[in-house]
Amino acid sequence: MRKTIETIKNHKDRNEPLVCLTAYTARIAQLLDQHCDLLLVGDSMGMVLYGIENTRGVSVDMIINHGKAVVSGSEKACVIVDMPFGSYEGNPAQALKNAQRIMDETQAQGVKIEGGADFGPTVELLTQNNIPVVGHIGLMPQSVTDASGFKVQGKTDDGIDQLLKDAKALEEAGAAAIVIEATIESVAELITRSVSIPTIGIGASAACDGQILVTEDMVGITGKAVPKFVKQYANVSDIIEQAVIEYASDVRRRAFPEEANIYKKKAS
Ligand code: KIV
Repeated sequence: MRKTIETIKNHKDRNEPLVCLTAYTARIAQLLDQHCDLLLVGDSMGMVLYGIENTRGVSVDMIINHGKAVVSGSEKACVIVDMPFGSYEGNPAQALKNAQRIMDETQAQGVKIEGGADFGPTVELLTQNNIPVVGHIGLMPQSVTDASGFKVQGKTDDGIDQLLKDAKALEEAGAAAIVIEATIESVAELITRSVSIPTIGIGASAACDGQILVTEDMVGITGKAVPKFVKQYANVSDIIEQAVIEYASDVRRRAFPEEANIYKKKAS
């Protein structure tokens, strides 16, 4: 049975940490499904899969294609799909139209939007239309420009007040959970204590109700430096590169294909 957004919400009452990772493809979804509560079809796919500079180049069509793949590759985890840049900020009606399309075409369990108090009316409209929404506050990659950069949020009193206000506004509007990205432990702890819905941290300490990472960062496949908050549990790049080195050598020495890899005529 697939986890619903209600199951995800219940984790907080039971004090059971939520295990969340990103997934963009069916095969990765299969590998993660039995071990994760929630899979996020994140717009980080722009950088990770497509080699584009930031998350802003991801379209609704792209996220829907990957959302379908992740839903088809999983059975158990709750699948949440990011609403791409430009698909929801205009007004709540625009957000509803695109969210409905994402939900219908992917069959996911909900959507995620970046933003706090300013998006209260949007979250309210979506939830009233039975579309579960996960909010995302703190560092919001869709809003990062070259000038603003990727910075830890909530380091000043004003910043802390704003984050708390954003979290409470999302909860009041009906959000099912909140991703908190890049903030200090005491702020994550304060927000987590102040709202009744689960907080899911990325670079926000163990004080959150759950954790999420970009899978490719966590398994070491991006080939790029990862942020301080990422723990790398594997180095898949090295494994792939070693396999390719051996394959290339075998092909060049005509040592591959071997007997076991070739077709033979049927004995007559
Ligand atoms: O797009 C994404 O992968 C995300 C996570 C980093 C939370 O939003």
